[in-house]
Amino acid sequence: MARCDELAAFTEEPGRITRSYGTPALTAARDRIAQWMHDAGLAVRVDAVGNVRGRGQGSVPAAPALLLGSHLDSVRDAGRYDGPLGILVALEVVDHLRHRPRPVSFPVEVIAFADEEGLRFQTTYLGSCAVAGSFDAAFLDLVDENGMTLREAMEGFGGDPDALAATALQAGEALAYLEVHIEQGPYLESVDAPVGVVTAISGQSRILAAFSGEAGHAGTVAMHLRRDPLPAAAEVVMTTENLAWHTPGLLATVGMIEVTPGASNVIPGQVRFSVDVRHPEDAVRTSAVSALEQQIREVAASRSLTAEWRVARDHSAVLCDASLMTRLAEAVAAAGLPVERLPSGAGHDAVVMSEIVPVGMLFVRCAGGISHQPAESVATSDVVAAIDVLDRFVDTLANEKLQ
Ligand code: GLV
Ligand code: MN
Ligand code: MN
Repeated sequence: MARCDELAAFTEEPGRITRSYGTPALTAARDRIAQWMHDAGLAVRVDAVGNVRGRGQGSVPAAPALLLGSHLDSVRDAGRYDGPLGILVALEVVDHLRHRPRPVSFPVEVIAFADEEGLRFQTTYLGSCAVAGSFDAAFLDLVDENGMTLREAMEGFGGDPDALAATALQAGEALAYLEVHIEQGPYLESVDAPVGVVTAISGQSRILAAFSGEAGHAGTVAMHLRRDPLPAAAEVVMTTENLAWHTPGLLATVGMIEVTPGASNVIPGQVRFSVDVRHPEDAVRTSAVSALEQQIREVAASRSLTAEWRVARDHSAVLCDASLMTRLAEAVAAAGLPVERLPSGAGHDAVVMSEIVPVGMLFVRCAGGISHQPAESVATSDVVAAIDVLDRFVDTLANEKLQ
């Protein structure tokens, strides 16, 4: 918990936690994590995308590795547990392995992913994509709001865009990926359970949209002559909300909107905004995205505007591995805790890691289901429970692999 507090001090924006990919704040947080990994006896390296990876060698060094971790970047004005908690719980458990009477046979690697939230480049999961070998080279040309490319950001962050392929794990190098994360929802609190076994992760589409019209004088351009993109965006915002209200299980959010030039006496010339769409069933999500795209085109046509609609990220729903779920549930029961299973509406690095390795996740209860804002909180006793469960999980796996 003290380490979570310590990491919270690494931020781009004084007074609130904002730590996006490739920034000095993330570099400083990564250096601190690297030190803690080193202190836990791990061999530490920064990979080509900028993830920090700490590896404990097993007695059979060539055996497939157990991967543990979560992300170190954050949203804007974040809480302190989304991401870091999973890295730090993993580090704690790996530290305990040093005191086992018999060494673990397989290597255990803790990964602190450099980009899960996608705050800076709207990319999401850059860190895990590099590890999973699904990093799209076209991302390197994306630019942030200051005009810096992802390629430049990666190079300035100690990464190497030309070595991304070499960072990827090869078949047979990993046994499983396990991630501990705060729940970010209210379920575990409602059933009075400290931890829960995740069953599946909802699919997610992240869209960057825009309407362009013509800027003008607020006091002279008659209403019928205007090509104002902001009311058009307002229509789409309302449709997005209505669609989610009327589609069971659908969650849709416009979280970012930018009005240009942005003055009270100027008719806007352009509005850029994001649309985030999620559902446990991919078909429902993709049909909602199509409906919204159709609407944006219709609104643009009816108001003589041009529209842009770019799907920045599109991730299918993912099922957690059945046997890892069973093992986690057994560890939860062995710790004397109630066994709860729940799906995740939030996205996680496990989504991308599932492309190459079986994935499992353990959620930790959080207060009021609050996340993606500073009031995010977890109880120390629940974190102790998560460490206990992960300890037991790894211990059981280690004993099995020795037989
Ligand atoms: C990650 O936090 C996400 O679900 O957007
Ligand atoms: Mn997260
Ligand atoms: Mn998050």
